[in-house]
Amino acid sequence: MKAPSSSSETEQFERIRTEVFETPDAAVGRVAQRLAKLIRSRAAMGQRVVLGLATGSTPVKLYRELIRLHQEEALSFRNVATFNLDEYYGLSPEHPESYHRFMHDQLFRWVDLSPESTHVPDGTVPRAGVFAYCAGYERQIAEAGGLDLQILGIGRTGHIGFNEPGSGPDSRTRMVALDRLTRRDAARDFRGEANVPAYAITMGVGTILEAREIILLGWGEAKAPVLRDAIEGPATATVPASFLQHHPNARCYLDRTAAGELTRFRYPWKVGPVRWDEPLTRRAVVWLANELRKPVLRLRDEDYSENGLSPLLVETGSAYGLNIRVFNRLQHTITGWPGGKPNADDSHRPVPAEPARKRVLVLSPEPLDAELGMAGTLSRLVAQGHEVSLVHLTSGNLGVPDGEAKLAVNLLKAAAQQGGTAGAGQTGWPHELEQELESKSPLDEDSAGLRRFKGLIRQAEARAAARVLEIAASATVHLNLAFYERGRYRQFRTAEDDVDRVAALFRQLQPHQVYLTGARSEPNSVAGIAFQLFRSAWARNRTEPWARSCQVWLYAASERAWSPDEIEMAVPLSPAELLVKLDALCQYRSQRNQTPFFRDMGGELWQLAEDNNRATAQAYDRLGLAEYEAMETFRRWRVTDVE
Ligand code: F6R
Repeated sequence: MKAPSSSSETEQFERIRTEVFETPDAAVGRVAQRLAKLIRSRAAMGQRVVLGLATGSTPVKLYRELIRLHQEEALSFRNVATFNLDEYYGLSPEHPESYHRFMHDQLFRWVDLSPESTHVPDGTVPRAGVFAYCAGYERQIAEAGGLDLQILGIGRTGHIGFNEPGSGPDSRTRMVALDRLTRRDAARDFRGEANVPAYAITMGVGTILEAREIILLGWGEAKAPVLRDAIEGPATATVPASFLQHHPNARCYLDRTAAGELTRFRYPWKVGPVRWDEPLTRRAVVWLANELRKPVLRLRDEDYSENGLSPLLVETGSAYGLNIRVFNRLQHTITGWPGGKPNADDSHRPVPAEPARKRVLVLSPEPLDAELGMAGTLSRLVAQGHEVSLVHLTSGNLGVPDGEAKLAVNLLKAAAQQGGTAGAGQTGWPHELEQELESKSPLDEDSAGLRRFKGLIRQAEARAAARVLEIAASATVHLNLAFYERGRYRQFRTAEDDVDRVAALFRQLQPHQVYLTGARSEPNSVAGIAFQLFRSAWARNRTEPWARSCQVWLYAASERAWSPDEIEMAVPLSPAELLVKLDALCQYRSQRNQTPFFRDMGGELWQLAEDNNRATAQAYDRLGLAEYEAMETFRRWRVTDVE
């Protein structure tokens, strides 16, 4: 099979055809139309369509759009047969996290697919029968006429289906062990890594490549590095998705953030002429300095011209002036005054000096997110006299494992008994909670009462963290937005009253600064939904006088340290301040890894935050700027981004 040639100059590095859309909705609309056309044209000829389907967060929006097409535009699935990629081994079809259940909830029950025409691998086949079962699954696909179109997501390990690194292009349907990163990514659904199955049954890479057409979907910043490797790197078993390069009719449909590491977006000067605006100039200079391992001020004319950056020199005449300009820009992003420095010249500072005392609204999708991203900055803002409101948008109760709830219930009961209350602990809420916790498995849905209790645990942790950061109790708000309380991961639907509540918060506080995260997150994640809520609420307020002068700052999520060229404000942390931050993070004891399994990966959230903050400081240092212990990082979000 031959890889398709790129259709435009800008795509010259891409070995899989890739279409990039502003939003996942736009991409999903296009893919759904493609599917609808295929289904309808086959139906008109009295023929069947065989679809390969995926689970996970990525296709959720696609399935919602297909359901809409079925309900509103009479798209029928009567002539469709489906084969799913994979299933966790050991989970029954009824299990809340099984892919059977997922497909039923997200698609099958809403459309007119007949149950006999849907196929999801069976995770309950006895071990001795797995090989024969997998061969049978392949046979069923072949007997159905082969897959007409396969939908894929991609894991951060580069897996498609559950074909983890090491899976070859000829691999077939089989049982596999899940990679540790994959298990960590699934930990949220399973309420802790310890509950994530170790094995799965998956179609092989070879099985997938036999589909006549393949569409891989990808959203959000977290997928950007692996998508770059799959699309632009060599075809290798280290990144199984890269084998799609061998397929004549495979396409990636990405949103802009998932495509962010592709050469045409990250290093556009390498693919054609560009307009050298300030951000791009900065990016190119930082890239060059990193490539050559030189501080910015030591880059020479030859360094630019030998590395394809002569056009950049044309504007400034020499490396000298350009280096100084970029160095100063980088220098000006660093400030110990995130709320503005009173009585100082602010013409080169990220934040205006006036008003000296600002109203600052910090939005945290779940308790802990804001602390991970900006605990040091939060405590500085408080210490520098600003009026800080820390608003936890959701209760975070889905992230509290049963073990933590058991511990707290136990304590409550023991305290009541010590208090000498007659019959203490035999009735009442703690007793009910104890009964529920005794009888449920960690994966059963929690009752509303248990969720409320777990929310209280997370609130208590948030209060402890706020105390460490010296944020007054009265400055912390728990909004407990409804979308979170009504759903589970991947099944959230935003509720209109949530937008009302965030909009009301803006009107009430009229902030000079808003801090939040999630702009580049996967759209079904809590941070992604929280960001969309912010945008809707902001759109309602944006003509208000306070909104016109309000700065919105995005803080970095914990997954990846931003490069200095992406940063518009870097707040340094001294060694002592970093320790205070870590102390605050450690107050969230329910959010520690519940097993030692991932310890060697540095998988603790506080460790990731520390590593990223240190990495940023080192990146600035390598460019020749001052060497700090650690740095928290921010980017401006501008009102024009609403449109
Ligand atoms: C799902 C599957 C996986 C997922 C991948 C991404 O059937 O086979 O390859 O597509 O793990 O998962 P999400 O979409 O949850 O990021």
